[in-house]
Amino acid sequence: MHQTIAVIDFGSQYTQLIARRIRECNVYSKIYHHSTRASVLKKDNVRGIVLSGGPSSVFSRRAPLPDKKIFEMGVPVLGICYGLQVMTSLLGGKVEETDRREYGHSTLEISDKSLLLGGISRSIRVWNSHGDKVIRLPAGFAGTAKTSNSRYATIEHRRRKMFGLQFHPEVSHTEQGILILQNFLTKICGCRGDWSMADFLEQSIEKIRREVGDKRVILGLSGGVDSSVAAALIHRAIGTRLQCVFVDNGLLRLHERDAVVNLFKRNFKMNLRVVRASSKFLRNLRGVTNPERKRKIIGRTFIEVFDDVVKAIGPVHFLAQGTLYPDVIESVSIDGNPASLIKSHHNVGGLPKRMKLNLLEPLRALFKDEVRVLGRELGLPKEVLMRQPFPGPGLGVRVIGEITAGNLKVLREADAILNEEMVSSGYYYKVWQSFAVFLPVRSVGVMGDKRTYENVIVVRIVESLDAMTADWVRLPYEILQTVSTRIINEVKGVNRVCLDISSKPPGTIEWE
Ligand code: XMP
Repeated sequence: MHQTIAVIDFGSQYTQLIARRIRECNVYSKIYHHSTRASVLKKDNVRGIVLSGGPSSVFSRRAPLPDKKIFEMGVPVLGICYGLQVMTSLLGGKVEETDRREYGHSTLEISDKSLLLGGISRSIRVWNSHGDKVIRLPAGFAGTAKTSNSRYATIEHRRRKMFGLQFHPEVSHTEQGILILQNFLTKICGCRGDWSMADFLEQSIEKIRREVGDKRVILGLSGGVDSSVAAALIHRAIGTRLQCVFVDNGLLRLHERDAVVNLFKRNFKMNLRVVRASSKFLRNLRGVTNPERKRKIIGRTFIEVFDDVVKAIGPVHFLAQGTLYPDVIESVSIDGNPASLIKSHHNVGGLPKRMKLNLLEPLRALFKDEVRVLGRELGLPKEVLMRQPFPGPGLGVRVIGEITAGNLKVLREADAILNEEMVSSGYYYKVWQSFAVFLPVRSVGVMGDKRTYENVIVVRIVESLDAMTADWVRLPYEILQTVSTRIINEVKGVNRVCLDISSKPPGTIEWE
């Protein structure tokens, strides 16, 4: 049995990030609703409790409160931000409502020896996001560090092993934040740090088996990182009761369908149904040039096709999706907190409501890099796990203007050449995305002795951390030259190759 750290969730958008940081320290953590009784935590034999931050004020009538008995369990407690404030006020200290929110960086000055702050520099930059602040400590507590705005930026009750941080140690903007958490886990809670992704895999398999029982699960497999890892994981848990569906929408890259079939059907022996719906998609897209309309038609057609498959394959109870944690915070409001509703995401929702299926989302707690580690555990190859992002509407947003079979063929061939050169030069895995775009513009050229009048291909290669901003990659001229020469020589219908040198913003990564 693994040593468990309980993370009590007060609705912060960082709760999962705390859990993730604990996993990074190789300790197992479980998130509990703030109303969870101390008896439940006792039964789960937790070694330590972290109280998360949250959007509420302790002065609000609806402020979420933990069971007070958790402070009497004899288990170490670490309160973060709201967690610190709620602990202070429940234990008899005083919190003051301020109208001046402290948001962003401040400098933490350590004033006293502390187990929690052991090995931390005397002065570090920390990241804050709070309104209320502690002005009087509960009995037995001492302040161990301050910032210019908070006298009690870190507090502790040494004997009872209770600690509080006004700032967020879990965010990367806090220097040495992970070390503070590590101190809590190892020096204070005595965790061994022997938990790994292999354990997560075992736990997930058991959880999926429990949840699914003897029912069947359907999963739309795109071949991208998230759906591939979800498929491999669920397949490991329930074998052929997982039905994967791959929709060939006609907007795929060269050999993409074969690669998916080879890996998942031949190699993994999954139940994989390939739906060849290319003509239906192209029919629906005929004559359409407006980018938003194209996207809508592609999305709607996908749902129709998927709907038909669900009906055709007989009773299924679950729809599996490779939703990751960042998709979740972008899409839902946690405990009705509108601040956490950042943007509605194209990868979540839509399908299940219509189809009356239960959702199975085994990657919901993970971040992208963790999903890759899990995928490696499951035996998925690097080509899948380190693959560049590819948009849901596929080449549909890369053929500018009307999408025709002819234009798609030209783009597919050009894109494959670019891809080959990116892989062979070693740049494919170094950049965020590299792809070709088809322009419905013709320009004059000369080939041999003949005048040509053909289409233009644009090469788009960008670097980015999160796709929110991006810059074009300064690829060596020699590689660009090979790409250009090869595309013009080998792809019929192209006589000009251009390089996109726009950054995002103001440009976007995709052209449509
Ligand atoms: P933009 O063009 O907005 O793209 O700079 C940002 C990132 O999102 C990808 N993208 C999509 N991914 N479905 C997806 O799953 C979509 O409809 C979609 N549109 C854009 C794009 O490739 C880039 O990585």
